[in-house]
Amino acid sequence: MTLIRAEGLSRRFPVPKRHVFEKQHQSTALEPTDLEIAEGESLGLIGESGSGKSTLVRLLLGLDRPSGGRVIVDGRDVDAAARARSLHWLRRQTGLVFQDPYASLDPRMTAGQIIAEPLWALDVPGDHGARVRDVLVQVGLDADMADRHPHEFSGGQRQRIAIARAIAHRPRILVGDEPMSALDVTVRAQVLALFQQLRAEQGLTLIVVSHDIGLVQNLSDTVAVMKDGRIVERGTTAAVLQHPREDYTRQLLAAIPSIRRP
Ligand SMILES: Nc1ncnc2c1ncn2[C@@H]1O[C@H](COP(=O)(O)OP(=O)(O)OP(=O)(O)O)[C@@H](O)[C@H]1O
Ligand SMILES: [Mg+2]
Repeated sequence: MTLIRAEGLSRRFPVPKRHVFEKQHQSTALEPTDLEIAEGESLGLIGESGSGKSTLVRLLLGLDRPSGGRVIVDGRDVDAAARARSLHWLRRQTGLVFQDPYASLDPRMTAGQIIAEPLWALDVPGDHGARVRDVLVQVGLDADMADRHPHEFSGGQRQRIAIARAIAHRPRILVGDEPMSALDVTVRAQVLALFQQLRAEQGLTLIVVSHDIGLVQNLSDTVAVMKDGRIVERGTTAAVLQHPREDYTRQLLAAIPSIRRP
């Protein structure tokens, strides 16, 4: 079943004018794009910096308004122009992990408050305190760490708190935009294992933007390759990484020394 569908989805941004009489120019971050993501699929999004990966995921989650086209999640139109409250149905189904665990956690709040926030903001029923403790354990932290503040955690622990927050309301869709680039190798392996466990146990649909091809290789069933605001290649991870059809994909993969090729 298709869970997320983009139809002719595009995004342009106004280019800053150099002088007042200059005509307003637009730059295209995303060319009209069609994309389908199946329920339970794990999609890796790769492509050079500025190719439109973050723009695409922001539009898919209704965090940004498209210049054209539309997004349909679970059969419903994502109207990013709507008032925040009317997108609660989408927030309930989605969790987001950003790149930087320092910037995404409010330093004045305790870990417990940070993780519980989406639970009360989205009117999730149940005992929020109990859920916070469960989810802390699930990401490999101690339940009593809920009372600590972000600065009392290491970088890797902070990123786990960000992940705990993203999964606390049991989303069907988890989106990570470079979710592991701030983590060292061992913590990366632990977080990777957690994502795989959540997929196995909860049938999570996963969209991960990453420059780390090793991560994509381990986590994603399918890969989409972006260049200049377009998806230039999409297929199974094995097909795209081992037998890329596009020269651009070959160049992108060749630029990454860690990839294993047969
Ligand atoms: N808010 C914005 N205002 C103006 N231009 C933007 C905005 N957001 C993105 N862009 C432009 O859109 C293009 C795509 O950016 P995007 O952030 O989606 O790339 P990306 O693939 O995520 O890159 P990276 O790998 O560096 O994160 C870039 O040219 C960028 O400068
Ligand atoms: Mg980006």
